[in-house]
Order: sequence, then structure tokens, then C-alpha cells
Amino acid sequence: MRPPEWKQNVLLLTNDYSIKDLISSAFGEETTLTHVETEEDAFQCLEEKKYEVFLLDQKTTDSPKGGNLKKEDQTFFLEFVQFATQMNPEVITILIANKISANQGQFAIKSGLSLLLDRQSISLNKMIYVVRVLRKRTFRTIKTFDISSTASFSSPLYHFLPTNNRYVPFIKAGESLNKDKREILEKSNILDLYAPRKEFPLIIEELKNSKRNHAILLTEELSLIREKYIQILFHFFNLSTDSHVNLGKKLLEQGKKISSVFENLIKYFDTPYEALQHLPYPRWSEIAHAINGAFYTLIFAKNLDVYPMDEIIFGSLIHNIGTSEINQSILGKNENELNEEELNEYKKHIPLGLEILKRKSIPVSEAIENIILFHHERFDGNGFPKKLKLDQIPTEATLVSIAHSYDYFYSISPGKSRTTPKEAWENLKYAELGQSTEKFDPEIIEKINPIFE
Ligand SMILES: [Fe+2]
Ligand SMILES: [Fe+2]
Repeated sequence: MRPPEWKQNVLLLTNDYSIKDLISSAFGEETTLTHVETEEDAFQCLEEKKYEVFLLDQKTTDSPKGGNLKKEDQTFFLEFVQFATQMNPEVITILIANKISANQGQFAIKSGLSLLLDRQSISLNKMIYVVRVLRKRTFRTIKTFDISSTASFSSPLYHFLPTNNRYVPFIKAGESLNKDKREILEKSNILDLYAPRKEFPLIIEELKNSKRNHAILLTEELSLIREKYIQILFHFFNLSTDSHVNLGKKLLEQGKKISSVFENLIKYFDTPYEALQHLPYPRWSEIAHAINGAFYTLIFAKNLDVYPMDEIIFGSLIHNIGTSEINQSILGKNENELNEEELNEYKKHIPLGLEILKRKSIPVSEAIENIILFHHERFDGNGFPKKLKLDQIPTEATLVSIAHSYDYFYSISPGKSRTTPKEAWENLKYAELGQSTEKFDPEIIEKINPIFE
């Protein structure tokens, strides 16, 4: 059975049938796609039904000449976006623009558009990625760390059952997280509950109002990191930035900001182990995995000789950006299921990653370059692309690779329940450091070990 959060109503305004076909295959069967060809119909639909996503095509609503968004068009789109938001404050609004310029990027951010897509570079691949990111946003993590025993909430809080891939209510509306309930969670190493995305802002308020002993609200901090990271991704995939170096610099700055928020959060815990328990998103998703990977990178790095940390964190967050230009059918398979041709195609995400950064005018430092180029190398020399081995592999690349591997062992996914950080670390070592082959440098593993003791 499909998780309930995947049901979405999508409204698409376009008279371009190639766009329509592409969007409908990207969203797939789980989505109810309503297609309209005129502005009037779009307005009417928005009034009649609640849509989670609203895509509007500039070509359909614009003067036939196309080209850049003019001032008056901007006002028109703004009104459209505002109307959609009025009808559903959580709506995701996407504009398919004929051409993207720096000004338009600014406009998109200011107007509250969720996303600006460049018609020139729109592809099924990219859309599938966007849809995946959007879908994952429907349930939000609530840290039990933030919940005082007296707090009650206006909406139920859910927990995730990996065995049947579903969210089920754990605390009813008006109930509190009492001692018995807390015990149940502790027994299963569960430190997180979930709330539907639309209830999330209210729950944050309720968390803040309830009496807590903590000086920091983890749930909120983490959700801010998540928003920042999604912004970075969307900029990467959808704003063509060839003409403006500034956006590249901004992205790097954004990455550095995320890194400093991480640093602050970690300081809040007495030991790195405690941070490892409380900070990660437990439920596996592409976004959660990337953010968790960056956390672990930072925590593990404390015991290693690597720097500068902010660049390494940014590198960790975006090291697989090259996969955005790799065929989805290949990315959907496990590495060992790929035939030779597919494997060669997959390996292209390494040079592509660097190419994309250069295309976006993002300043690439040595650390960032090393992480992108060498995160698939292995200590035993069986990695790619260069088959480097032993100490030829830059430490920061190994570090990111270990961090990502660790997340596979720590996260819960359908069919796989939660372990403690220590168990996850032991499982990683058992799986990756065999008798005859070794994925990671044992000296580096040795240096990380004390965190788990
Ligand atoms: Fe990779
Ligand atoms: Fe990964």
C-alpha cells in the first residue's frame, strides 16, 4: 500500500503538449494532474479544489513573442501566485519560464514562487528529481528532544513504521508524550516523531510555548537547514546562472551558513555521540541523506586532520550533484545491478559534478574538488574514476564517503528499523572492511572509533 502522503493534486496551466506529457510522466500515477489551457480555467480550478502543486507555463500566459519576463508579466505572475497561496497556503508554485535571467531569479525569490524552471533546460530527468524533492516534504520530523512531558498538540504526532512504510498516529491531538509513551520510543531507539507538513508551523509554535529545559529547538533548526539545502538544490537544477557569477558565490555562502548552523548545534551536546543520536533525520530520503551526510562529515572530521571545514561541508552536501544529469533509470538501480555500459554512464556523475559547479560559477576549492572527484575511490584500489589507493585518496573524500555509508546503516528505510549509532558504526565496519578487500582507510576508521566508545 502506498504511503498516504504521496497523494497530490497538481494543476498545470499550459498549452504546450510536450510540456504536459513531460510533467504528467514526471509526477506519475500517484498524482491527480489537472491540465488547463487558459488562465480563466486555472483561476476557476484553484477556487474549486485544493492543489498541492501549481505549475504555470509562461509561454501560455505570455505574449506570443516570449523572451524575458516583462514588468507587467511579473505583476501578473505575482497575482497568480498570491491567489494560489490564498487558496492553499502550502501550495508549491512553479513557473516554467521561457528564459531565465538574474533579475528573474531575484523576482522568483521575492514573489514567493517555489521554483523557477528554465524551458530551455527542462527535461524529464530534472522534473522527476524535482517531484521527488517535493514529495519528501509532506511529513516533517519532530525531535522528541524538544517535547516536554506536559506539552500537548493540536494535531496528532505520527511515528514511521519501517515494516509497512507508513506513518501512524502515536500521540493523539490533545495528548502528551507521557512516561509510558516515551518508554515505548526509547525501547525502539526512536527519537523522532512526524507531523504533516501543513501542521508543522503550528507545532513549532506549540513546542516553543510548552516548557522546555533546552535552550534550543532542534526541530526548528533542522527544518531551517533543510529549507536552505532545498534552496541550494533548486538553484542548482533550475536557475541557469551562466550570466551571473553572484549566484555561484551566494550558493557557496549558503553552504557555509549551513555549516556554521551545524557547528552550533553540535556544540549544544555534551558528547559527539549524543549529537549523533539526536541530530540526524532518521527517515531515509535523498534530502535527509545529504544533510545527515554533512552532519557526520563534520562530527567525524573533528578527529581527523582536514580543513577548511565549511568547504568540506559544502562539498559533502553537493558531492553527487553530477547525478542530476544522469539517466534516472540508472540511478534507480543498485551499483551492482548495472551492466558495463550503464556503469560507465553512472561514473560520468563524477566529472559532470565538477562541470556543473564551473557552469554555475561556483568557486571550486581544492577540498571541494577532491570530494567531488574522489568520493568513489576505495582504499583497496577498486574504486573509480582513477583507481587511487591507500594514501593517494584525499582524506576529505574518504571522510565524505564514510559519512554517507554510515547514514545507510543508521537511517531507517522500508523494512529496516532503527539501531543505535554504535550498532550502525559496527555494522558499517563489518560490511565495508572485509578480510581481502577494504573500502576505507583503516587508520581513518581507527581515528573515528573513539566517538562510538
Ligand atoms: Fe557519487
Ligand atoms: Fe550518498
